[in-house]
Amino acid sequence: MDEFLQFARQLERLTGIDLTLYKRPQMERRLTALREKRGYQTFDAYMAALTRDSDLLRELLDRMTINVSEFLRNPERWQDLMRVLPVPAGRPLRAWSAACASGEEPYTLALLLEERGDVRYEIWATDIDRTILSHAQRGRYSEHQVRGLTQEWLERYFVRDGDAFVVTPRLRRHIRFEAHNLLADPYPPSMDLIICRNVLIYFTEEAKRRVIRGFSESLSPGGVLFVGSTEQFMGASQYGLGNAGPFLYRKAR
Ligand SMILES: C[S@@+](CC[C@H](N)C(=O)[O-])C[C@H]1O[C@@H](n2cnc3c(N)ncnc32)[C@H](O)[C@@H]1O
Repeated sequence: MDEFLQFARQLERLTGIDLTLYKRPQMERRLTALREKRGYQTFDAYMAALTRDSDLLRELLDRMTINVSEFLRNPERWQDLMRVLPVPAGRPLRAWSAACASGEEPYTLALLLEERGDVRYEIWATDIDRTILSHAQRGRYSEHQVRGLTQEWLERYFVRDGDAFVVTPRLRRHIRFEAHNLLADPYPPSMDLIICRNVLIYFTEEAKRRVIRGFSESLSPGGVLFVGSTEQFMGASQYGLGNAGPFLYRKAR
């Protein structure tokens, strides 16, 4: 077994995160750069230090994940989503924003559903990275981060705190943030909507297939899966999914 694979195995024992399910060239490049920056000649020596030093481990976990997100990323895709959204009768819509990073995605969904006004809903927002989840939970964004939203929405759904824009309880009360590893943790049943964008690209083909299969099992019949703009996949029917629009899939009824 080569040194990087051995490192991956040891890291899995330490943290439960399996690096081998991520595309190797990018991951190895990123972690080698970090290891060298910290002055370790080998992954063996780096691992020995990681087991002793929780700050070093935190830094590695932060580097593994890329947390960039935006409000209303690709606005026309969100409009498509609103057109195909299943609206359950007599109960709230159950949505899961998986790999939500700093929270822009679940807050965008909540904002659009508030604007529609005809759907009761609850959103489960998850990410593997607890540090970024605590930012998401705080719901505090810079002017640059909220640039995708209209002035009207900013006034309706945010309060100003100095330079920052803070999400109001009107959006926040519908969202539960929790740590969840898409490659290791169980998936919840009976979801009407799963939004998972810009994380599948980091996974190996095998891991990506496993996650899509999991999403399909998690969706209720007629439920919708919304993926990122480079994450369309072929052969949706093998997962029991049909196409519902660009980057949108619907679970067979
Ligand atoms: C580029 S961000 C995507 C944010 C948001 N979905 C969007 O499209 O704007 C990728 C996120 O995936 C998360 N991530 C990486 N591996 C994960 C895993 N195995 N399970 C859950 N989240 C993961 C990272 O922590 C990061 O926050």
